[in-house]
Amino acid sequence: MLKKSVGLVGSSLLLFGLAACGGGGSDSGSGSENEGSSGGSGEGGSDAEVEIFSWWTGAGEEDGLMALIDMFEEEHPDISVENAAVAGGAGTNAKAVLATRMQGDDPPSTFQVHGGAELNDSWVAADKMEPLNDFYEEEELNDKFPEELVDMVSSDGDIYSVPVNIHRGNVMFYNMEVFEENDIEPPSDIDEFFEVAEELEAAGVTPLAMGDKESWPATQIYENLLLANLGPEDYEALWEGEVGFDDERVATATEQFGQMLEYVNEDHASRNWQDSAQMVADGEAAMINMGDWAKGYFVNDLGLEVNEGFGYTPFPGTSEEFMVITDTFGLPKGVENPEQVKEFLSVLGSKEGQDTFNPLKGSIPARVDADESKYDEYGQDTMEDFQETSLTPSLAHGSAASEGFVTKANQAVNIFVTQGDEEKLMESMQTALDEEQQ
Ligand code: GAL
Repeated sequence: MLKKSVGLVGSSLLLFGLAACGGGGSDSGSGSENEGSSGGSGEGGSDAEVEIFSWWTGAGEEDGLMALIDMFEEEHPDISVENAAVAGGAGTNAKAVLATRMQGDDPPSTFQVHGGAELNDSWVAADKMEPLNDFYEEEELNDKFPEELVDMVSSDGDIYSVPVNIHRGNVMFYNMEVFEENDIEPPSDIDEFFEVAEELEAAGVTPLAMGDKESWPATQIYENLLLANLGPEDYEALWEGEVGFDDERVATATEQFGQMLEYVNEDHASRNWQDSAQMVADGEAAMINMGDWAKGYFVNDLGLEVNEGFGYTPFPGTSEEFMVITDTFGLPKGVENPEQVKEFLSVLGSKEGQDTFNPLKGSIPARVDADESKYDEYGQDTMEDFQETSLTPSLAHGSAASEGFVTKANQAVNIFVTQGDEEKLMESMQTALDEEQQ
C-alpha cells in the first residue's frame, strides 16, 4: 500500500495579481431572503448577515450549498445569508471577482478557496486571513480532519480555513450501456484507453467528452496524464521545480495528451463541463474525465443512478492515486461580524453539515467521522480509496501551485488544444514555473 503523500508545493510562489474583472454579482439562493444588496452588512440593518462567496451556481454545483444554507438558517434564524455565488466552473470568474474585492478591502464574510497554494500563497501570504486555531480548539475540530488536509489549510503552524469536502479529480465517468453494447471494458491504463477509443470511434461513438469553453477541464486531463507517467512523488516534484518539463516522462504525457485530444467531441470549445458530461449521460460520448462534482450532476440533476446510469473508474494509469481537490472556507481579515461568520463555519465544519452537503455535491466529507450510510456506492468507494491511495494535489483546482501559475498553465494548455505543439506546451509550462519561483 502506498503511503499518503499530499505535500504543499510552491510555498514561495508569488501572490497573484488578477486584473479587475467586472460583473460577478449575486445569485439568489433558495434559502435566502435578503439578496440583492452588494456584499457586507449595510448600515442601519442588522449586522447579522453572512455573505457566502463561491462559484457554486447552477446544475451540479448549487444543491449542496443550498442545503447547507438551509441548515444554517434553521439553526440561526437571527442571521441572514447572502449567497454571493459567481457562476463559472472551477472559479473561472469568481476568483477574479474575489481578487478585486480582497484588494479593495471589501472581503466577503467567507469565501470558497482550495486548500493548498490557492489559500496559502495568495490570501494567507498577503496577510488577508484570520488564523482559526482558537476556533478549531473551541469547536473540537483538531482531530476531526485528516492531518494531510489540515496541512493544506495551514501555514507556519496556523490554521486558516475549514475544509467542507474532498473531491477526486482523477475519475473517468462512463456510459455503461455504450460499453456493454460494444462489448468492451473501461480502460485501466493508457494503452488500453487508446485501444478502447479506437473501437468506440469505429462504432460511431465519441470516445471522450470534453468541454473546455473554460480551459480547466483540458488542464485536468493533462495533470492526470502527468500523474500517470510520473507517479505521485515526481508529479509533486514537478510543481516544486525539482523535475523539469524536459523530463522524458513529461514528454510522453504531453504526447499522450495530444493523442487523447484526437478522440474528443469536435464542439468541445463551446461546451462547459455540464454540457460535456451530458454527452456521456446521453450516450453521445463514452467517457469523460471530470472531478466527482459530475457525480452530483448525474445523480441530482439528471436523475441517473450510480452503476446503472453511469459507471466510474480511475483515470487510466492512476488507480493507486487520488487527485485531491478540497473546498474550504475561512475568515478574511476585516469582516464586520466575525462571530456570525464563525457560526457558519461551525455548521460547515460539523458532521451534520458535511453529511448534508457532500452527498449532494458528489464529494466525500473532509471529516473523518462521517456517517457512511448517507453516501451512495460511489461515495463509499471513494472514501475507501482516499484511505488507501497516494494523495496528490490538483493543479487545475488550485492546490499544487499558485493562482498565477494556474492561470498561465490554463493559457498554455488552451493554446496546445488548438495548435497541438508539444514542445511549446512544455516550454511554456517551464517558463511559467520559473517565473513564479523567482
Ligand atoms: C472545483 C471545485 C468543485 C467544483 C468544480 C467545478 O474547483 O473545487 O467544488 O465546483 O470546481 O466548478
